[in-house]
Amino acid sequence: MRIGTIDGLLGEVAGARVLDVGCGNGRNGRWLAERGADVVGVDLAAAVLDDVRPTLPPSMSVRALDVLRDPLPPGPFHLVYDSGCFHHVAPHRRPTYLERVLPLLAAGGRYGIVAFSQERQPAPSDTEILTSGDTAGGSAFLLEDLRRIFSGLQPMELRGVRDDVEGTFGADFLNAGLFAALP
Ligand SMILES: C[S@@+](CC[C@H](N)C(=O)[O-])C[C@H]1O[C@@H](n2cnc3c(N)ncnc32)[C@H](O)[C@@H]1O
Repeated sequence: MRIGTIDGLLGEVAGARVLDVGCGNGRNGRWLAERGADVVGVDLAAAVLDDVRPTLPPSMSVRALDVLRDPLPPGPFHLVYDSGCFHHVAPHRRPTYLERVLPLLAAGGRYGIVAFSQERQPAPSDTEILTSGDTAGGSAFLLEDLRRIFSGLQPMELRGVRDDVEGTFGADFLNAGLFAALP
């Protein structure tokens, strides 16, 4: 099994154990499962998971849970991937997310995140969110914010999501980060 950056965010994923955090309709986990990964997707949206479950490849399962409160699937995972969940976590709950999710990584495993980009589409600051109590559709992060928030991991690549890769969802208002856990 090997996960690494080759000419994109991820290279070979066959055989990897993957946790898809906030998997929604499972599109990312499905992509990984179809390339040989063993994927568990977790999401609050039980009804969405019920709809998608019968359509999933055999190597992907999904569980309805709150990543901030409920018992999580046991690690270690070679890859933990979060596309669009972390930016919905309120600022004061981010430490809870980090304390619960990052220990699930295998030594040398990868953590990938896609989140709203503060450089590309500015959103309310943490102070504004905390004083108003309104997450206003999600937080946005500078690439430097991602580097700081995930400073317990080794940054491998931090950049705006590309919008020129055919067959991928390359929205130009997103940032992507790939980090490695200590070996
Ligand atoms: C923007 S959607 C992204 C879905 C999917 N990852 C994708 O890229 O298409 C964010 C997802 O995170 C889920 N989510 C938000 N907070 C969560 C939490 N605390 N625990 C589990 N899932 C959560 C939502 O239910 C939603 O499906």
